[in-house]
Amino acid sequence: MTVRPATLDDIDAMIELATDMVLHSVSPFRSISADEVRRYRRDDLQSLRDIHELEHSGLFVAEEEGQMVGHIIVVAHQRDSSTGTAQAWIYDVSVRPGFWGRGIGQALMAEAEAFALRCGMQVIGLGVTMANHRAVEFYDQLGYQQERVQLLKNLSK
Ligand SMILES: CC(C)(COP(=O)(O)OP(=O)(O)OC[C@H]1O[C@@H](n2cnc3c(N)ncnc32)[C@H](O)[C@@H]1OP(=O)(O)O)[C@@H](O)C(=O)NCCC(=O)NCCS
Repeated sequence: MTVRPATLDDIDAMIELATDMVLHSVSPFRSISADEVRRYRRDDLQSLRDIHELEHSGLFVAEEEGQMVGHIIVVAHQRDSSTGTAQAWIYDVSVRPGFWGRGIGQALMAEAEAFALRCGMQVIGLGVTMANHRAVEFYDQLGYQQERVQLLKNLSK
């Protein structure tokens, strides 16, 4: 398995992978259909084509035997809303399900952390949905600490 910077030619496959994986990040108590979530995600990710050009954006793909099996999207020089601290932010990490549990996610996270350090960042963060137990455990094992909790109440129920 190798991890390399993404090229513009990788963007379509990245959008499809992130769209396929987005349902792992949807809380069961949200009243929204899977189709709506997937449509929103695919549209939102079109911005990857612009982000890709930016110096402080790190887009990396993992390949096995020429097949793209995972990706990570990290952006440096983001600002924490409470403290103003400059930090890197991981916007997505996804691995194709048939390739889970083989260290690909960890390799992508290591690449994102190295990129953040090269950009001069001392902090890296991300958001994770608590219902995504596998991802929560994955980040915990990698040393990520919980800082804030987002609270929601579904008013339609
Ligand atoms: C989360 C994700 C990126 C992990 O990728 P991966 O390639 O399977 O991860 P790795 O194989 O590198 O590491 C797995 C680690 O996670 C943990 N883990 C593995 N299986 C687990 C399970 N069933 N439950 C909880 N934790 C588990 C372990 O720490 C494991 O490390 P170990 O193999 O040394 O024990 C992948 O499952 C994924 O793409 N999920 C769908 C998309 C997603 O939810 N992305 C995160 C959005 S915030």
